[in-house]
Amino acid sequence: MRVILYTGKGGVGKTTVSAATAVACAARGLRTIVLSTDAAHSLSDLLERGIGPEPVEIVKNLEACEVDVHHELGLNWGTIQTYIKHFLSRRGYGEAVAEELSVLPGMEDLFSLLRLLELDESGRYDVAILDCAPTGATLQLLGFTDVFDWYMDRVFDIERKLVRAIRPVAERIINAPLPGDEVFGQVEQLYQRMMRIKTMLTDPSRASVRLVTNAEKMVIAESRRAYTCLGLYGYPVDAVIINRLLPAEVDGYLRQWLGIQSRHLEEIERAFRPLPLLRCKLFPQEMTGLAAVEAVAAEIFGDRDPAAVLHSDKPFDLVGEAGAYEMRLHLPGVTKKEVDLLVKEGELIVNAGGFVRHILLPRQLEHHTVARARLDGETFKILFTQEKAK
Ligand SMILES: Nc1ncnc2c1ncn2[C@@H]1O[C@H](COP(=O)(O)OP(=O)(O)O)[C@@H](O)[C@H]1O
Ligand SMILES: [Mg+2]
Repeated sequence: MRVILYTGKGGVGKTTVSAATAVACAARGLRTIVLSTDAAHSLSDLLERGIGPEPVEIVKNLEACEVDVHHELGLNWGTIQTYIKHFLSRRGYGEAVAEELSVLPGMEDLFSLLRLLELDESGRYDVAILDCAPTGATLQLLGFTDVFDWYMDRVFDIERKLVRAIRPVAERIINAPLPGDEVFGQVEQLYQRMMRIKTMLTDPSRASVRLVTNAEKMVIAESRRAYTCLGLYGYPVDAVIINRLLPAEVDGYLRQWLGIQSRHLEEIERAFRPLPLLRCKLFPQEMTGLAAVEAVAAEIFGDRDPAAVLHSDKPFDLVGEAGAYEMRLHLPGVTKKEVDLLVKEGELIVNAGGFVRHILLPRQLEHHTVARARLDGETFKILFTQEKAK
């Protein structure tokens, strides 16, 4: 099953574009499911159908569902949650507070991703389209697997052994039960599933992330941060959808907006090169209903295969550790003489054979400067070292 994940700032058109992609995939005969993991579900409104946590058929080859976080939470976190609640109430917390505290903030989103594994295992779909929560939440979610990985690696086993050793004494002293093997078991199982999600979503042949953006300053800024961040975590981005573009024929004061958009379009081209940019005009009405969604699909994809991997190169690789990082860019077909670089206001500007790429530098590289840069075959290697304290 191929997974295509749409993310972007709130209101840019993620749900519309996700549904459009799904409808276009289904029309090509792919068994498709579109699922929304954004707690602010709007697939139902868009497709004008009641959609719940179980997949419902929309048209031939197309099903939709809106993930219910409480349901997923119960399945994957139930044992742990019961333990935490029990622990807190023994320590004098009321029922409601214990209930509230047993779920970490932001965790709901995580569980909705686990749904993907079930869909994959079912073998019923060729492609799953994910309508994700706004960028920040999605990134947090994808980054969370790394944190979890770190914790499991260094802390989990020690903790488990420790709990076994001290249980008889400790339970009497703190007057509350320590987590039993079933709790650890569920943590372990959750971890395994999360790692499988991560493997799936970082494999460019199985998953692609697409950024939905508008030609507006703040929206572009957020998309750029997302692009850098996704690159850093190793999630493959294969396209940018620029939604709500004004058509050239507008007049009156909208002409001024047209000028603003065209300047922002230039920035988008520089910032996301060489990703394919798919465009969608601003339609003269709100886009609800299947016919509207089909019109959006035709506008974005035309004859293009909506499920294809639209781009497969990574934006960059970052290797090394604090103090000395090497950033690697794939620059096919350029010669040494043609490459030039500059770091300015947190951006790396690379001029390669007349094409300029602006890469927003990840936060790790704050307080680092370029010590050396060289072209090694098709790979441009830039060494960043820490600035000397002044
Ligand atoms: N290209 C477009 N032309 C006209 N209206 C659009 C377009 N794209 C989205 N919309 C409208 O904008 C609103 C927000 O879109 P939506 O897909 O729900 O955004 P998001 O999921 O990113 O919050 C909806 O009312 C939708 O119909
Ligand atoms: Mg939405």
